[in-house]
Amino acid sequence: MIIDLQHIHWEREERTILQQIHWQVKEGEHWCLLGLNGSGKTSLLNMVNGYQWPTSGKISVLGHEFGTYDLRELRKEIGWVSTSMQQRLYGSDMAVDIVLSGRDASIGIYDTPTADERDAALKWLSSMGCEHLAKSPYRTLSQGEKQRVLIARALMNKPKLLILDEPCTGLDLLAREQLLNMITELRGQEQCPTLIYVTHHVEEILPCFTHTLLLKDGKIFASGTTEEVLTQHTMSSFYEVPIHLEKENERYWLTIKKPS
Ligand SMILES: Nc1ncnc2c1ncn2[C@@H]1O[C@H](COP(=O)(O)OP(=O)(O)O)[C@@H](O)[C@H]1O
Ligand SMILES: [Mg+2]
Repeated sequence: MIIDLQHIHWEREERTILQQIHWQVKEGEHWCLLGLNGSGKTSLLNMVNGYQWPTSGKISVLGHEFGTYDLRELRKEIGWVSTSMQQRLYGSDMAVDIVLSGRDASIGIYDTPTADERDAALKWLSSMGCEHLAKSPYRTLSQGEKQRVLIARALMNKPKLLILDEPCTGLDLLAREQLLNMITELRGQEQCPTLIYVTHHVEEILPCFTHTLLLKDGKIFASGTTEEVLTQHTMSSFYEVPIHLEKENERYWLTIKKPS
């Protein structure tokens, strides 16, 4: 079992943010987590990472039950990419150094990397189509390039679990498709970590995401195989408007039906 959340409930300042969450991710599955802004997606994943504790419930990640295991050790096995991370990195660092800092999940690098580590960083950059940017200062990269460098950084530790929290935010159409292609390629690799992809856009649900979880107002609205969950009926009640859902080129496209 990669993730096992049981009876998760989280209250903050007298507000219930997450409730009745049961979610299990098994080896070989890759999940998309879909929900509107503020539905609790990031909060839920902060719990998986051990950055936030639920008010009640049981969490076990990569076979380690929380409360009995050193979370710093666990975090080394989890790759984490989010836009908020971009602001914390040093813009003057070269892309390759940003990737190298993934080894210790640190901001900046503090000891001289070995030749092997440098090679590994270049390899991950190249797998994200960014090898030519190795020596470019991070701040000079486009938004899409920055996100791909962050994924390479997260892969530096060969994580067993890779969480991508809205990685396509702020990307134009082409940069988004490029990033999604890279994720599809990563999925095709033998040692691909379990992927958790967070979004509020249905069209980002790639065929390689075997399962989908719909989160609404801090509760699980639906969860199961992507095919089971992504139906016109379920999506219409999820959004509370009549939805037209189409599947083309193995991707989902959604429009709100016009009132007749
Ligand atoms: N540390 C916190 N303290 C208080 N409220 C929080 C905290 N983190 C998140 N929230 C609230 O929980 C709700 C869900 O937030 P979040 O998990 O970031 O949603 P999403 O990632 O789906 O957009 C929001 O209303 C947010 O304001
Ligand atoms: Mg979020």
